[in-house]
Amino acid sequence: MALTAAPSAGDAILRRQRVRESAARTYARSFPIVPVRAHGMTVEGADGRRYLDCLSGAGTLALGHNHPTVLTAIRRTLDSGAPLHLLDLATAEKDDFTTALFDSLPPGFGDRSRVHFCGPAGTDAVEAALKLMQTATGRRGALAFTGAYHGMTAGALAVTGAVEVKSPLPSGGEVTRLPYPYAYRCPFGEGARGAELSATYVERLLDDPSGGVLPPAAMILEVVQGEGGVVPAPDGWLREMRRITTERGIPLIVDEVQTGVGRTGAMWAVEHSGIVPDAMVLSKAIGGSLPLAVVVYREEYDGWLPGAHTGTFRGNTLAMAAGAATLRYVAEHGLVERADLLGARLTGRLDALKGRLPVIGDVRGRGLMIGVELVDPSGEPDRCGAHPADPELARRVRAECLQRGLIVELGGRHDAVLRLLPPLTVTDEQVEAVLERLAEAIEAASR
Ligand SMILES: Cc1ncc(COP(=O)(O)O)c(C=O)c1O
Repeated sequence: MALTAAPSAGDAILRRQRVRESAARTYARSFPIVPVRAHGMTVEGADGRRYLDCLSGAGTLALGHNHPTVLTAIRRTLDSGAPLHLLDLATAEKDDFTTALFDSLPPGFGDRSRVHFCGPAGTDAVEAALKLMQTATGRRGALAFTGAYHGMTAGALAVTGAVEVKSPLPSGGEVTRLPYPYAYRCPFGEGARGAELSATYVERLLDDPSGGVLPPAAMILEVVQGEGGVVPAPDGWLREMRRITTERGIPLIVDEVQTGVGRTGAMWAVEHSGIVPDAMVLSKAIGGSLPLAVVVYREEYDGWLPGAHTGTFRGNTLAMAAGAATLRYVAEHGLVERADLLGARLTGRLDALKGRLPVIGDVRGRGLMIGVELVDPSGEPDRCGAHPADPELARRVRAECLQRGLIVELGGRHDAVLRLLPPLTVTDEQVEAVLERLAEAIEAASR
């Protein structure tokens, strides 16, 4: 007689999710598990299986799950009787978060800035930044880049590159799309020279009286494109964007929603190039795993009238306490330097693996924001030598990773980039385990 296992509580939850939640479910489709406990980098499912989490809440969990410092800050706040929701009223927790945030900001930026607390998601802060610069300049349009991801609300979606998620909305007519430097799949077909060509193109387009671009309210960019496939911009290119925008009186908004709080091996990714933006959009890790989003901007742009940009959920006391604790922990425990060190180790080892596995087309990233682009080595290479992306293989690798207890999500232009976003607290042993499981998964999937 064949024995069939009784469906578990986890299976029942997954079944109900499938029939009750929207067809736009995302991560739930990639990872059909029901997490019940999590600590650090480890997530335990309802079925008792344990996973190493290289997704970290899409880059939110700088300290991993349930870090003691974060839990202590949350418990202390709860026990203090402080109000948990307060619109934008002043509180000791908000005051302390603001101090921790300003202390962490790059020199030359934090000392002359203002902060606006936005609705709780990264996309809300993007909207606020764009509107702030529209108010300040009296202009409407924006300059944005191919491969960009800025969020899902209307303004943020307009500056986002991914056609699939924009559809079927209008494409955001007042956005001028510019080529982001992506050496592996260079928009100019020129590899690493693409960054120089991009800067030349941007400058000439803006100066062309027949170029069709009205003076814009802002340029918005990511220092390392995350959802776009972990594409780091060269420092020199960023300095060029800063020069070009400064010379033309165009405010520069840097979206550090994903790159912030040590992720790239600098507290803020702008520090690698030394550029000083006009505004920085921050969310994800700044809330210490709870929802929080702000825009920080140079004080000369503070032209809003009272109530000009408001919203209900801008005073999450717990998120501010958790966020302040996280910002200080990252700075005081050398996690920025550790992200740099471990990132170099991971990319070095993955590069070596690339020599052995031809399905790995490119390994790139900065700090603990790493991408592995999977390709079909039998496909015709483009003029830069890159083989076609292989999203099918990438999906199989993701599933093989999950089988081996490793959570790795995909991203990039064709969803063919494995994205590694471990917490900054990842241990040496966990790095080894990630590398081992990943290599096995890629080998198994490409057999
Ligand atoms: C660079 C960047 N900006 C904005 C967002 C949008 O943030 P949220 O999903 O919290 O709205 C994201 C989300 O992944 C992001 O990576």
